[in-house]
Amino acid sequence: MHSFEQLLQQFEDYFGKRHFPDQPSTLYDPAQYILGIGGKRVRPVLCLMGNELFDEIHPDAWSVAVSVELFHNFSLIHDDIMDQAPLRRGKDTVHHKYGVNTAILAGDAMLIMAYDYLYKISSENLKTVLGLFNKTALQVSEGQQLDMDFEKRTTVSLQEYMHMIELKTSVLLASSLEMGAVIGGASERNAKHLYEFGRNLGIAFQIQDDYLDAFGDPAKFGKQVGGDILSNKKTFLMIHAQETADAAAKERLMLLQEQNPSDKVEQVLSIFREASVDEWALELKNSYLEKALHHLEEVAVTASRKDALRQLAAFLVQRDY
Ligand code: IPE
Ligand code: IPE
Ligand code: MG
Ligand code: MG
Ligand code: MG
Repeated sequence: MHSFEQLLQQFEDYFGKRHFPDQPSTLYDPAQYILGIGGKRVRPVLCLMGNELFDEIHPDAWSVAVSVELFHNFSLIHDDIMDQAPLRRGKDTVHHKYGVNTAILAGDAMLIMAYDYLYKISSENLKTVLGLFNKTALQVSEGQQLDMDFEKRTTVSLQEYMHMIELKTSVLLASSLEMGAVIGGASERNAKHLYEFGRNLGIAFQIQDDYLDAFGDPAKFGKQVGGDILSNKKTFLMIHAQETADAAAKERLMLLQEQNPSDKVEQVLSIFREASVDEWALELKNSYLEKALHHLEEVAVTASRKDALRQLAAFLVQRDY
């Protein structure tokens, strides 16, 4: 069994090579660029951990790990276009550096490359894994569309928000684990508990992401702090503030969404603070972490084999980047 740090290092070594042809460099250098500027590599590590719970790491798990990281990076390139984000991992986003059209194509190429790793896995795993991968990929698109639809609405319920983040974020973490587990020969019951572990952890992870987008340290976060506020994202911070603020603050929040004053971020943040969103965020996040850990408990393998997953879960919900 490996620790989180060991698996991360092994994955970095395995993933560190160039994944694209040399030419045309105007297409492939931008694709390689985003892979080279960092990232926590959470999803591939989850896939490897899900696999190693049941056996020694299978070569197919490495391919699927690469595939999910490529898929994730594809989704980030397109997400940054949709969110008009200038910064990713502390560097220029692909569309800022190379233009929107190239970013769209570089994302497309990355998605194809993800499938190029996937289709080479052994035939005994291919059908199940491809089915899980495709289902997840469609759900991510659905979540991303809902996220944008919500920008145009003035209010969104917490339940709708939870459904949206489950689709855009959690399912990929969950299925990375499940694909690893399936390749490791997990029983259906174990695979489902791991999926539920990942799904609940993914919700906690996105809650933390949304929290950091508002209150993160710009020097550490690597993305534009306040970006969600500028895009009128209906994050739980906004939803909670809309639900609990007094009438005057609610009115101000409404107006700030329509107008775009230069101090919009500061004004919205001060309303968030008044609504004590940080305490509420912590509670919400911890409740999903607990649900996640409960499902991990239910996975029928020796408790010590799950140490690395517990370690990863703790890191994900406390991270500051
Ligand atoms: C960012 O994911 C997109 C979300 C789902 C919040 P990560 O926070 O895993 O991004 P990297 O890969 O570490 O940069
Ligand atoms: C992105 O959610 C989820 C996907 C890329 C599918 P966010 O828009 O919150 O991610 P960041 O904050 O830009 O990383
Ligand atoms: Mg974004
Ligand atoms: Mg987004
Ligand atoms: Mg975000």
